[in-house]
Amino acid sequence: MPAHDVLIIGAGLAGQRAALAAAETGASVAIMSKVHPVRSHSVAAAGGINAAIAIDDDWTEHAYDTVKGSDFLGDQDAIEIMCSEAPGEAMHLEHIGVTFHRNDKGELDLRAFGGASKKRTAYVADITGQAILHVLYEQLMRHHETVDSFEEWFCTSLIRDDDGHCAGAVARDIRSGTIEVFNAKSVILANGGNGQCYKPTTNALICTGDGIAQAYRAGAPIMDMEMVQYHPTTLAENGFLITEGARGEGAHLLNSEGRRFMEDYAPNKMELASRDVVSRAEQTEINEGRGVGPDGQGIYLDITVVPRKRVLEALREIVNIGRDFAGTDITREPIMIRPGQHYIMGGVRTDVDGQTPIPGLYAAGEVACVSVHGGNRLGANSLLDTLIFGRRSGEHAARRGKELAMPKAPATRASEDAAQIKQIIDRPHDGRRVSEIKDELGATMNEFVAVYRDEDGLKKAGEIVGRLKEQAAEAYVDDRGTVFNQDVLGALEVGYMIDCAEMTIVSAIDRKESRGAQFRLDYPDRHDEEWLKHINVTRSADGEPEISYSPVTITQWEPEVRKY
Ligand code: FUM
Repeated sequence: MPAHDVLIIGAGLAGQRAALAAAETGASVAIMSKVHPVRSHSVAAAGGINAAIAIDDDWTEHAYDTVKGSDFLGDQDAIEIMCSEAPGEAMHLEHIGVTFHRNDKGELDLRAFGGASKKRTAYVADITGQAILHVLYEQLMRHHETVDSFEEWFCTSLIRDDDGHCAGAVARDIRSGTIEVFNAKSVILANGGNGQCYKPTTNALICTGDGIAQAYRAGAPIMDMEMVQYHPTTLAENGFLITEGARGEGAHLLNSEGRRFMEDYAPNKMELASRDVVSRAEQTEINEGRGVGPDGQGIYLDITVVPRKRVLEALREIVNIGRDFAGTDITREPIMIRPGQHYIMGGVRTDVDGQTPIPGLYAAGEVACVSVHGGNRLGANSLLDTLIFGRRSGEHAARRGKELAMPKAPATRASEDAAQIKQIIDRPHDGRRVSEIKDELGATMNEFVAVYRDEDGLKKAGEIVGRLKEQAAEAYVDDRGTVFNQDVLGALEVGYMIDCAEMTIVSAIDRKESRGAQFRLDYPDRHDEEWLKHINVTRSADGEPEISYSPVTITQWEPEVRKY
């Protein structure tokens, strides 16, 4: 049985940064991913990474913008750590080889991003996540003697020992179907969010909430799940991301009257208000009949106001996306977009070193809720979150391992998970297909648990998801083989997605106010007296979500009315 000081599940930016930090702190490390690491969803992060590195900027301004962006739900101690450590992390990336864009003077260039009071987003054109991910992957290769890489292994469950400590995980080798127990002193979940609960979404097919659901099933609290971010600019046809960098470079949003409607909603920041505000403004324009396109369900993003040379240099990926997926030359004509699911602010509750309440279990990146994003994340703060808290988790877990003996992980756990997989493969073909359940889940969440919500819609979503949960327990798969059986893994994933959707819905029903990304038409105001608190969901003995609350940490910024 493989045994390591630190086992990291997920090899995107949070996972690779954690692995690098743990290896540099002297730990033996295993990093595991269900895809090749450079195909992790971090590769899709486009616009950049925030850091207060300009001469006229200061990390406290970045922190205030982040607190305000979070609609005062973010924990300010964690936000202070993230923003104060950001300049050092950006410089570290530069030094290890990330080719950030430079201006004519040869200095690091910074672009404007939503909700920020200064230009503070460092970028590599509009492929920033890809650029950083590849550099980290190269850096990890230097540590090949202490870092074992398990590419295309699918984690099926977490293991807790008799004392309740996390002792490792069970995983299936996708290539062969073999199941093994991985013993570890600490496990860091870094396997991303659950955007696939929605259809469409900007998220990759792999973002199925595996880590959130596995931590939930292992007894960890899951926090702020009602806070789901809709990005203001996703392609109307298919939900592909059109980077906020476009608006950062000066692009306009126009309604069917050809008007920059953001002047009605955020006269100071216009298109660069925070994402929740811009997405709601667009949805209001659409709902009130000022949308564009054949069904009036879109908004125009006009990038033609940005000089063509600059677009080709700094936004070249969305030039390709516009041409290939919408048949639009964005340098010459507006492109039709709409708000689309992009990110979840919630996740596995952790402290600022990535520790969950289960000893030995950590989480970092989108799977985690530290909480630095609260009710709404600022664009370009997610790459930062993955790197800062990935590093901190890796260092902490490595130090922890130095003081501990290897915990006991029963080898029998492999046969239990193997039996579950066999049970799925053997199911008769009289239930529903997994893909049908997934499609209905995505459509339901996008209809009822989106930019605008109300109690009736949320309850309807709860009923549908309850039915889908029963159907998923009997859903059948076509592939009965062992080699690259993605079909059976899809059945496990749909179960994780349903757990996540259930937590989102119960939390959204519970929060009877509007804050950040949660806008309740039946409770349109923010109520700090009652609701300035986090909602935590844990799994009861009979498998149902149970709600409790935890306080928001305020250090220096008292809640105030939020205007852009
Ligand atoms: O629009 C974007 O480039 C997305 C960035 C982010 O979500 O941080």
